[in-house]
Amino acid sequence: MQLFLPNTLHHLELSSSIAMAPLTRRRCDRAHVPTEIMETYYAQRAGAGLIIAEGTSPSPNGAGYANMPGLYNTTQMEAWKKVTDRVHQAGGKIILQVMHTGRISHANNLDEGAQVLAPSAIPQAGEITTYELDKQPYPVPKAMSRTKVKECIQEYAQCARLAMDAGFDGIEIHGAHGYLPNQFFNESSNQRSDEYGGNRENRLRFLMEVIEACGQAIGFQKVGLRISPFSYADTQENENELVALYTLLAMQLNDFPLAYLHLSHMGEAVGIKFELWKTIRKTYQGNLMLCGDFTLETAERAIQNGDANLIAFGRDYIANPDLVERFKNNWPLAERDRTHWYTNGAQGLIDWPRYWEG
Ligand SMILES: Cc1cc2nc3c(=O)[nH]c(=O)nc-3n(C[C@H](O)[C@H](O)[C@H](O)COP(=O)(O)O)c2cc1C
Repeated sequence: MQLFLPNTLHHLELSSSIAMAPLTRRRCDRAHVPTEIMETYYAQRAGAGLIIAEGTSPSPNGAGYANMPGLYNTTQMEAWKKVTDRVHQAGGKIILQVMHTGRISHANNLDEGAQVLAPSAIPQAGEITTYELDKQPYPVPKAMSRTKVKECIQEYAQCARLAMDAGFDGIEIHGAHGYLPNQFFNESSNQRSDEYGGNRENRLRFLMEVIEACGQAIGFQKVGLRISPFSYADTQENENELVALYTLLAMQLNDFPLAYLHLSHMGEAVGIKFELWKTIRKTYQGNLMLCGDFTLETAERAIQNGDANLIAFGRDYIANPDLVERFKNNWPLAERDRTHWYTNGAQGLIDWPRYWEG
């Protein structure tokens, strides 16, 4: 199968075209520092062609989920270094997803002094789990001043540098699922009147400046981008506007020799959105990674048809640390069980056996 052949992403030699999608598991300590069990968890999954480590905040202001990781200080960098060392020792490749939560956040989950920031003071609908206060409605975020926007872009670049210090093979900017860059480019969360709001170019400006700053910091070929034109985060948006916006984004990305563009939630790419993904594939000239509801068969077909260069698997990586081996040998997959997706501790994280141990 073509999926199992070695692949390259610019500088990176991958053992296959199968990636482990970024998966928030909330096993860090309260200071957003990765813990020892995370070293084992990622090392167990080093058989993936590429691991994309879970969404990690570049700023104290962006660590809005309880126990999610950060990478904005030396302690966090050193803890991540232990993770990347273990993955490299096991023969794997690992990049870090850089995720600023923006308004999807709560003060109770943030470090002291950090703030819930967003393009505009418009709250996310729904509730968030906090440390002490259980579920809380999302707060009204503080609209970022222009100075804060510029500072935030520099935080991404600094995180990219720290990711190199921590031994990562690259970074993936999280521009999907309603987090900060997505909050800038969606009309429903951005009512700014400066150059970061208004028309499409302006709403995309934050993301483009983040990409530029990270690319300048570590090299564009070590920077990937994830977007989700098909996900729930965009359900508030006008569909025709979304098509125009993402087509423009795909065009603008051709200015940068990025590692890849990653599209998530492919299962929802139906109707007008199916046309959109075809347009993105035609418009964007670099490597494309797809994720969402793939099976071994559909992944192989996508690679063979030239629809994608890489396929990422999310939920199946939680209970199948040896996913590539299971695919290669046609071994059955362990059932998806969401009980321990976001709980603390080792249970449900590192106790999934390989097929031949189970
Ligand atoms: C427990 C869990 C945590 C996730 N965390 C992230 C994340 O940190 N960043 C991200 O971009 N997507 C995240 N996702 C989405 C996955 O990366 C992936 O897009 C999704 O699971 C669909 O792929 P699948 O059908 O192969 O599972 C998460 C999904 C799950 C189930």
